[in-house]
Amino acid sequence: MQQATVKTHRDFTILEIDPRLYGSFIEHLGRAIYTGIYEPGHPTADADGFRGDVLDLVRELNIPVIRYPGGNFVSGYNWEDGVGPRSERPRRLELAWNVTETNEIGTNEFAAWLKKAGAEMMMAVNLGTRGPEEARQFVEYCNHPGGTRLSDLRIAHGYPEPHNFKLWCLGNEMDGPWQIGHKTATEYARTALEAAKVMRWVDPSIELVVSGSSNIGMPTFGSWEAEVLDHTYDHVDYLSMHQYYGNPESDTANFLARTLDMDAFIRTLIATCDYVGGKRRSKKKIMLSFDEWNVWFHSHNAKHEPWSVAPPQLEDIYTLEDALLVGSMLITLLRHADRVKIACLAQLINVIAPIMTVPGGPAWRQTIYYPFMYTSNFGRGTALHVITDSPKYDSRDYTDVPWLDTIVVDNGPRAAADGRELTIFAVNRGEEPLLTHYELNGYDGLVIDEHIQLTGADLQASNSPEQPDHVRPTGGSGAAVDERGITVPMPARSWQVLRLRSGAASE
Ligand code: AHR
Repeated sequence: MQQATVKTHRDFTILEIDPRLYGSFIEHLGRAIYTGIYEPGHPTADADGFRGDVLDLVRELNIPVIRYPGGNFVSGYNWEDGVGPRSERPRRLELAWNVTETNEIGTNEFAAWLKKAGAEMMMAVNLGTRGPEEARQFVEYCNHPGGTRLSDLRIAHGYPEPHNFKLWCLGNEMDGPWQIGHKTATEYARTALEAAKVMRWVDPSIELVVSGSSNIGMPTFGSWEAEVLDHTYDHVDYLSMHQYYGNPESDTANFLARTLDMDAFIRTLIATCDYVGGKRRSKKKIMLSFDEWNVWFHSHNAKHEPWSVAPPQLEDIYTLEDALLVGSMLITLLRHADRVKIACLAQLINVIAPIMTVPGGPAWRQTIYYPFMYTSNFGRGTALHVITDSPKYDSRDYTDVPWLDTIVVDNGPRAAADGRELTIFAVNRGEEPLLTHYELNGYDGLVIDEHIQLTGADLQASNSPEQPDHVRPTGGSGAAVDERGITVPMPARSWQVLRLRSGAASE
């Protein structure tokens, strides 16, 4: 059997993981909102029309923050359309996705849903068809306590307490020609700067995310970020990144290597932020917000009836192979826990999503649900640097792709006991099994609490409403502790989680 080794030490800390690394995204798109989170009349719907079965699945994912309302949608959105009495809300032609938006759900209803889901709002403002003035007014409506026209309007709408949304995105993918109100870097930077100033003058406590490139393949990638940050550096906190991967060529080896590209993307943007900061001799560091990431390609040729209300759109059905890449993308984010502070799995319900619904019927979990759920729940604490020695392969676009992609997370002291808890996440990209030894220095008396894996003979297997549990994690076997760490046999093309605890001697 092929072998790999991993070395780490309890003191090799990258940094504490920001829980917002496990954020997600819900756009007014397809069936994400309507028949996704909201379906009055559904057997599990509550008094507000929110599906209880969906809320249960969302809560299992332990998501701290959800980006809303877009995406491309936000660049044509008037926030005023979605507040106040429902009977007075306009139906609008929605140009980003070629549908009719009824505005039954808007800011206040979504904020109420977030409370039930246990998540915070990450609100995006429209810098496509609108600008700094509307963004300023929106912050006043949402966050100002009262005594002004817009804060009193919120109170009149039935929300006496300010929402106090902390995290705000300055537009969405403004470098993309598909975007409503597409801009050059200079045009966007000037607009974002002026919006940032007045939004923060209304509420100095908010944090701001400025839009980076739509993906690493954009012709202006790199220069866009440098110019945008040149203008906005002192006024924003995070630079956004978006990236989706697909496997239309059915080339598994190449697809599973895509996280090398994701890693390079993150490193390039860290360098870009620090280059701009360095030129300004600034002490401030801009952090990254990877606020759209996922696999997306299965639904690329799907069509819908133009101007229909909430048609199925972007309903990718995910395979086991996709789940392996999602597991690897999460490991990549953890490896950069020192600079990536926010990340949003795009999206959450029905639209390129881990959770699917049948109108009037059940909600079910896609394959990608599982790596996200386990990493969100057990990838908390401090990420550790690992030194790996693994067999490698070459694929169509990559050379020297390590079979093993892995990270170790120190979850901290054990509750009501001595010692610490730690979790290993790993993907074996290789076509054959891999025996991996982890040397875990600084952790004595290790015990394995749980070994979970996702693997199978058919990498194209997926779940469906009829077979919702066809692909799901099972218990791994054969992992064994020794004096220095743990040995884990990893089946070919598998995703692994090992939950360990160390004894009192480690303290
Ligand atoms: O998540 C789907 C779309 O992908 C978003 O609306 C847009 O921001 C991105 O291009």
